[in-house]
Amino acid sequence: MDATHKTQPGRIVILISGRGTNMEAIVRACATEGWPGQVAAVISNRGGAPGLAFARAQGIHTDVLDHREFRNRETFDAALAACIDAHAPDVVVLAGFMRVLGAAFVRHYAGRLLNIHPSLLPAFPGLATHRRAIDAGVKWHGATVHLVTPDLDHGPIVAQAVVPVADDDDESSLAARVLEQEHRIFPVAVRALLEGRLQVDGLRVRTLAVQGAAV
Ligand code: GAR
Repeated sequence: MDATHKTQPGRIVILISGRGTNMEAIVRACATEGWPGQVAAVISNRGGAPGLAFARAQGIHTDVLDHREFRNRETFDAALAACIDAHAPDVVVLAGFMRVLGAAFVRHYAGRLLNIHPSLLPAFPGLATHRRAIDAGVKWHGATVHLVTPDLDHGPIVAQAVVPVADDDDESSLAARVLEQEHRIFPVAVRALLEGRLQVDGLRVRTLAVQGAAV
């Protein structure tokens, strides 16, 4: 799963299900930081996903593939992969994509599929992470960007951000604090993968700096 430094411009495909603020952060960082690549497409499994409007306004190609129109996970995954592969991506990003993807799909994108999860994995995989963090009484919470493996919310960790949990936090105040950090770490991780600066050894990931020095 090791990536070498790349010289060709890379292509990013981003999958969303909802408001798409992480997608927005990646699109903006790609443009303003002059990444060696572009966001080639944004794909949603929900036609009404608010994030689609932002992508279209940026002139980014969008596709909608409604999972309810497929008879099972395998047929949806296969159609989704065909839709993604039409854009010849180097990096595929799950940015609030709320569908579990099957093992065959994940294997097809091994080493180029990134997910963001709103907890400090391996704590709180799955849903309702902020609620569960508050209920568990943790003092620190956060977000994780990881390479995707067939296991749910599991895989080599590329980046994490930590936020304190305040005594008076509720689910929405904690979610907002975590989301701010998601917008910071996700673009950094996507860019590093795009530029071939991730060295993966089992579950451990080392990110090389732009010049090749370890950070
Ligand atoms: C983000 O908080 C992301 O971490 C979470 O969904 C939200 C999407 O927000 N993802 C998951 O829970 C995946 N298991 P966004 O659409 O504004 O980027």
